[in-house]
Amino acid sequence: MSQPTLISAQGLSVHYALRGGLIGPKPYVGAVENVDIEIAAGSFFGLVGESGSGKTTLGRAMLRAAPISRGDVHFDDGEVSYSLKDLGKQDLKDYRKRAQLIFQDPYAALSPRMTVRDIIAEPLEVMGLTSSRTETDERVREIAAKCRLNVEHLRRFPHAFSGGQRQRISIARALVSGPKFIVADESVAALDVSIQADVLNLLKAIQEDMGLTFLFISHDLSVVAHVCDHVAVMYLGRIVETAPTRTLFSTPRHPYTTALLSAIPSLDPDDRGKVQKLEGEIPSPTNPPPGCKFQTRCPHAIDLCRTQEPSLEHAGTEHRVACHRWQEVGGEAN
Ligand SMILES: Nc1ncnc2c1ncn2[C@@H]1O[C@H](COP(=O)(O)OP(=O)(O)OP(=O)(O)O)[C@@H](O)[C@H]1O
Ligand SMILES: [Mg+2]
Repeated sequence: MSQPTLISAQGLSVHYALRGGLIGPKPYVGAVENVDIEIAAGSFFGLVGESGSGKTTLGRAMLRAAPISRGDVHFDDGEVSYSLKDLGKQDLKDYRKRAQLIFQDPYAALSPRMTVRDIIAEPLEVMGLTSSRTETDERVREIAAKCRLNVEHLRRFPHAFSGGQRQRISIARALVSGPKFIVADESVAALDVSIQADVLNLLKAIQEDMGLTFLFISHDLSVVAHVCDHVAVMYLGRIVETAPTRTLFSTPRHPYTTALLSAIPSLDPDDRGKVQKLEGEIPSPTNPPPGCKFQTRCPHAIDLCRTQEPSLEHAGTEHRVACHRWQEVGGEAN
């Protein structure tokens, strides 16, 4: 049976105003443009794309931590239903309990002067979720155990921990308020490969145990292939393709997705030297090209692509793609 949608965006745009522009329209960075996305309850949903494509901004907008310039985000966990654009102060406070961020850098995210116990307890205290120190301690111990930290660890300061352990502390802090939705932004990127696997396994175990829904932001497609059930590909603030992971990796339809996939180095020694590099750079979101945003780098671009922006259309069950020519050029993965 398919799961209900936990969180979705409709025509979501995030614009950051730039200085200048006394004459004519005010310049802005279109960090996220007209994004439609639906994340089912219990999903481990991957978000990929090059640096600057708007992944962090989209994740933050879904937490109401980036401004919503146009469109909206809807959240419904069966207990509450919110439209994030016009969330009142009280509801926003409640939403903070239900939707949390795990930071990218476990070294920068933890205050060096607080014990691990206090770091994990802080959200409970700030949100007023517990009524006594005993209750707070109990909750901290419970969540620490889920994150494979023991009671000894709680008395120490973060500098005494390895990168993987610090990331587990960050995870415990994000989970302590009992959220339903987690944005994990490059949560394993700073870690050693073997520790990455530990942290990923922990996230998956916690997801099942606590019934969480993840938006998992990563530039590493091989990690996404292993842990995510659905993936959306971003380019210059837009979603250009989205599908169940297996479909996206076996039958990518957008030339950008195909290019990203063929840039994954193979482990097969016979393939040595065959990694293809995506040519050129992502254009500036302040001054995006007309038409399809990928046309400046796309080997298949025709006149239509240079004038008209394609919208996301159905390319199969749960598979959507924004390309005028996907039926002609959709590539097979390597
Ligand atoms: N607060 C801000 N003010 C102005 N521009 C911003 C702000 N935050 C992000 N941007 C711009 O929005 C665009 C998208 O940035 P974002 O950080 O969301 O990309 P990303 O996909 O997460 O990149 P990375 O993979 O490097 O983390 C970039 O061009 C960035 O410079
Ligand atoms: Mg980012």
